[in-house]
Amino acid sequence: MSIIILGIESSCDDTAAAILKDGDILSNVVASQEVHRLYGGVVPEVASRAHQENIVAVVDLAIRKAGIQKRDISAIAFTKGPGLIGSLIVGTSFSKAMALSLDIPLVEVHHMQAHVLAHFAEDPKPAFPFLCLTVSGGHTQIVLVKDFLEMEILGQTIDDAAGEAFDKTGKLLGLDYPAGPMIDELARQGKPVFDFPEPKVSELDFSFSGLKTSILYFLRDNKKQNPDFIKENLADICASVQERIVSILLKKLRIAAQQTGIREIAIAGGVSANSGLRNGLAEMGKAEGWNTYIPKFEFCTDNAGMIAVTGYHKFLKGIFASQEVTPVARMDF
Ligand code: KG4
Ligand code: ZN
Repeated sequence: MSIIILGIESSCDDTAAAILKDGDILSNVVASQEVHRLYGGVVPEVASRAHQENIVAVVDLAIRKAGIQKRDISAIAFTKGPGLIGSLIVGTSFSKAMALSLDIPLVEVHHMQAHVLAHFAEDPKPAFPFLCLTVSGGHTQIVLVKDFLEMEILGQTIDDAAGEAFDKTGKLLGLDYPAGPMIDELARQGKPVFDFPEPKVSELDFSFSGLKTSILYFLRDNKKQNPDFIKENLADICASVQERIVSILLKKLRIAAQQTGIREIAIAGGVSANSGLRNGLAEMGKAEGWNTYIPKFEFCTDNAGMIAVTGYHKFLKGIFASQEVTPVARMDF
């Protein structure tokens, strides 16, 4: 009999549902919450309310697009954490209620582990052990992936995440939230003519708060000389900031590859949609003799396909959650 997993993701500002049949994605639906643009960042209370409004329609659409019936579902996998607690509560409560009514098991999923396992939603799949640079709005990690559910964080940010560096730069430049995609687009029209400093942090850890401060002072000083400095140099500023963020990420990834001797190298998370990072990794991979794995866009930013894939591997191992499960905002591997 086939194993069909319904995946549900609601950790931040995307309400998502996906159907996975025997390891293959049949549908992957995301409702993004545009409302946060108005506020320049995610407003947690608004996010939870939007999840409540969207979740029934999103799950229903995922089931219909997959061409299955509710009674065909073997288990429901949901994001337990980390994330915004109000947002997580919506997905968790919905999943518990639906699993109870269908009398099927529940599988809890760690959001960051799921970003890594998004690579198993498509081909080619990395071979174990591999390294994954997971870069999102809240996390920046180099993960040693020994097996589906066996992962170790080798290095991570000591302050801001890479996605935050993009988003906070965007705020300074007057761009809408989330600014990552817009900076990416503008960077393609500019040249990296401005030099921003590289942080000095040990080994495989990252830091992005110093970069943010240096951009703030750089813009302040230049605006004193020319009030239109940002408008006249926007594309070049974006290209320069993006190049620095990407160089910081790839430099550490290369150290991790050298230290571990691993040549299977993947990227994941929202920032892995960045064209500078994707091209940079492909280039570095060629030079270093790595096999590189870059997810399709739909598996980079938050999605439920990755939750369903992770749920599938837990299902195969018989790891289930009880009806007493509650979401957790901060959560280790
Ligand atoms: O993984 P994700 O969807 O959500 C979290 O788990 O945080 O990542 C969202 C982050 C945001 O900071 C967004 O600006 C960034 O990913 N992002 C990008 C791009 N697309 C999304 N950053 C740079 N370039 C992009 N193309
Ligand atoms: Zn995420």
